[in-house]
Amino acid sequence: MLKGKVALVTGGAQGMGEHDAEAMLKQGAKVVITDIHAERGAAAEKRLSEFGPCKFFPQDVTDEASWVRVVAATIAAHGGLDVLVNNAGINKRASLETTSLETWRKTMDTNATGVFLGMKAVFAHMKAQKSGSIVNIASINGLVAARYPDIEATANAGYFASKGAVVMLTRLGATQFGPFGVRVNAICPGLIQTEMSASSFVDPERMAYFKAVIPFHRYGSPADVAHAVVFLASDLSGFINGVALPIDGGYTAKS
Ligand SMILES: NC(=O)c1ccc[n+]([C@@H]2O[C@H](COP(=O)([O-])OP(=O)(O)OC[C@H]3O[C@@H](n4cnc5c(N)ncnc54)[C@H](O)[C@@H]3O)[C@@H](O)[C@H]2O)c1
Repeated sequence: MLKGKVALVTGGAQGMGEHDAEAMLKQGAKVVITDIHAERGAAAEKRLSEFGPCKFFPQDVTDEASWVRVVAATIAAHGGLDVLVNNAGINKRASLETTSLETWRKTMDTNATGVFLGMKAVFAHMKAQKSGSIVNIASINGLVAARYPDIEATANAGYFASKGAVVMLTRLGATQFGPFGVRVNAICPGLIQTEMSASSFVDPERMAYFKAVIPFHRYGSPADVAHAVVFLASDLSGFINGVALPIDGGYTAKS
């Protein structure tokens, strides 16, 4: 499905980013993963290379200069750049009342500014080739103010705000990049079992709450998200532009 395409995945050293990279490699893409965690990134490159051509470059997505370097290195390594998956993100849990200014700023910087810089950085290349697909990983927390049983274990205020910003940046990108053949879509995962959400899987009260409120009565897996990433990256989704696609077992469909 992705033969001949080159994909760049941020935050690809583990979790959903690593699964997205694996899924795209299995569909024939050449992949670059980047991550702030250099050691884990190098290990992921080794694991992923089993499935196809994969390179790791260290990157802090909040650093604009790193984007210039990574885009150039991707094109040099794999001969092009067709897909950007803006996946890197952080989430320190706190209520709105207890979110510190420091946590707010760091979360906004990583989750929203990182996506903004990534979209800007790849556009010139994609515009010149008149094609490209940008997939921004937002969250159900960018769509609804999900309530949790333990309010202090909720995603912090910066997380909700940053993921809402990702949804809006996606719509803006779709309208401004679309005329140049570049599509921009967002995926809004629900609760997916990864290191980021690990705390949700140790507290029985939280686990029971989520199973009860998700219509499928199960959590999501990174593979559930990776399949959608492959679809949005591929030409099969060629007329899909500007959507914010929940992958949440129906959670946000409920009022
Ligand atoms: N796990 C969930 O339930 C869930 C739900 C909705 C959305 N998401 C989103 O999905 C994405 C992936 O989350 P995950 O669950 O795989 O988390 P994770 O913590 O397992 O992986 C995130 C990766 O991003 C990297 N990263 C963090 N800051 C970075 C920076 N400044 N520059 C580059 N890399 C950086 C981390 O090192 C890590 O490898 C995130 O954007 C997250 O907000 C997760």
